[in-house]
Amino acid sequence: MEKKIVIAIDGFSSCGKSTFAKAIAKRLGYLYIDSGAMYRAVTLELLRRGLIVNGIVDTSRLENILKEISIGFSFDPAKSAYVTTLNGTVVEEEIRSPEVANHVSLVAAIPRVRERLVELQREVGKRKGIVMDGRDIGTVVFPDAELKIFMTADPMVRAQRRLKELQEKGISISLDEVMKNIEERDYIDQNRDASPLRKADDALVLDNTHMTVDEQMQWVEEWVRKLTM
Ligand code: DC
Repeated sequence: MEKKIVIAIDGFSSCGKSTFAKAIAKRLGYLYIDSGAMYRAVTLELLRRGLIVNGIVDTSRLENILKEISIGFSFDPAKSAYVTTLNGTVVEEEIRSPEVANHVSLVAAIPRVRERLVELQREVGKRKGIVMDGRDIGTVVFPDAELKIFMTADPMVRAQRRLKELQEKGISISLDEVMKNIEERDYIDQNRDASPLRKADDALVLDNTHMTVDEQMQWVEEWVRKLTM
């Protein structure tokens, strides 16, 4: 039987990480885990409980909340994709809302939140044959992953891709605003104290500025072949 591996994908926001990770998982029959969705789900819970006010997170009940909530992924046949659940209810739409997007970096910077989510992520990774994307997967969550990929692309190209996505959703925003948001997120992701975004020493760099998804797939399939032979 073909050997199954763990594929860790990290990189900047709006690099196409999740599209790429989902395509790999589908192609290989692996489980795809969106670790960013887990940070988004915790953020949603804190917002629902009114515990984020004026950019400040009230962490006094955090320990209990992290114990009580259950975050999972369930298969949605209509979308033919996995969707995120929070306490058993699908929250895929809510976790992508601007409100959650605007507060998630704050929540992802809290060490206790990271500790708990890393624990959950490692639990899933016990079974091989997974693709997980995020910011610290190759450096912290799975430092022993057989294949680590660090994705990057020119910020202007990322902004243009993101603008197109938002326009398709009917959201009106300027290229300048999207660019500013991307630069801000890059800065926060790379400069926070807890597990900042950085390339693992043994990660392969995938700069997809001038690559199609098909070209990226050919590139990764070649690596997977080498590692699972
Ligand atoms: O990939 P995303 O945009 O859904 O991530 C949401 C936020 O969570 C973003 O601010 C980065 C953070 N994140 C993180 O700190 N560590 C991860 N493994 C995944 C996401």
